[in-house]
Amino acid sequence: MSDIKKIAVFTSGGDAPGMNAAVRAVVRTASYHGLECYGIYRGYEGMINGRIRPLATRDVGNIIQRGGTILKTARSMRFMTAEGRQLAYENLKAAGIDAMVAIGGDGTFTGAHVFNQEYDIPIVGLPGTIDNDICGTDYTIGFDTAINTAIEAVDKIRDTADSHSRLFFVEVMGRHSGYIALHCGIGSGAGCIFLPEYDTPLDELVDVLKKANEQDKKFNMVIVAEGNASGNAMEIANRLNEKYDGYESKVTILGHMQRGGAPSCHDRVLASRLGYSAVVELLKGTRNMALGIVNDELCLTPFEEAISQTKQPKSSLLEMARILSI
Ligand code: F6P
Repeated sequence: MSDIKKIAVFTSGGDAPGMNAAVRAVVRTASYHGLECYGIYRGYEGMINGRIRPLATRDVGNIIQRGGTILKTARSMRFMTAEGRQLAYENLKAAGIDAMVAIGGDGTFTGAHVFNQEYDIPIVGLPGTIDNDICGTDYTIGFDTAINTAIEAVDKIRDTADSHSRLFFVEVMGRHSGYIALHCGIGSGAGCIFLPEYDTPLDELVDVLKKANEQDKKFNMVIVAEGNASGNAMEIANRLNEKYDGYESKVTILGHMQRGGAPSCHDRVLASRLGYSAVVELLKGTRNMALGIVNDELCLTPFEEAISQTKQPKSSLLEMARILSI
């Protein structure tokens, strides 16, 4: 038997499609086990401001298909201070919260880890970010939707690239991670992909474009991760123009459109599995752990490990993309 009677759920950091499906799963699994469930609005910031409200099973009806987060979100600077965390703890105690489910990325997990070390309210974390940069899970909630949104946009840009015989540089999100760019690049058959994790020399791009021109390939697509170490899409395009003018080039930055929209079925299922498991694990006594799915099985990783390790996209996939795009 667990002492947990009231649990709270919150979303924090950048919103990601599927967060609502995870919240729904937490609330309904809690209800199934006879627990009271609360939502904390605007992440850690709301915890500090005492924005903690009851969430019943019907409150999470008709949200499985909605992007964004009904609980709202924030990036809280105040939670990084001991005073902020003390205030948050006092508000949680006043509301009678016994345990929490945190949904977000590495910043969210860092906050949860520090809080777990200082205070006696158990937390488990669910990886919710489009960046797919969290260790201990094959995929994060939101990644699949984001790459499908990005690829749809690239397909549309490709029509113009083809019609006008242009070279397009498309910049995608991912912060310091290249997962979105790699998947988007492979999925769109890009001629070249620039990732933060691996250096792609400009000469390699020049080479690809010269060969393409020789083979009478009239247009080309290049995908650039926003965190690419050798420069963003605009910088790479400018440097290329100084070296090679075989194509008229254009730059598109996809931006926040990648974060919004209805979650894909993959993200809804992933979020449902993780939200359900979060409550089951808390009742079993699990705390200070990030949950993920690895090889189709639930995987528990201590927050400390999840935030200290960096997940790297496979270099072999980049190599494969080069071979396939000639
Ligand atoms: O972490 C998700 C993400 O969308 C990153 O890909 C991006 O770098 C960042 O958030 C943008 O954050 P914000 O919306 O706060 O500018």
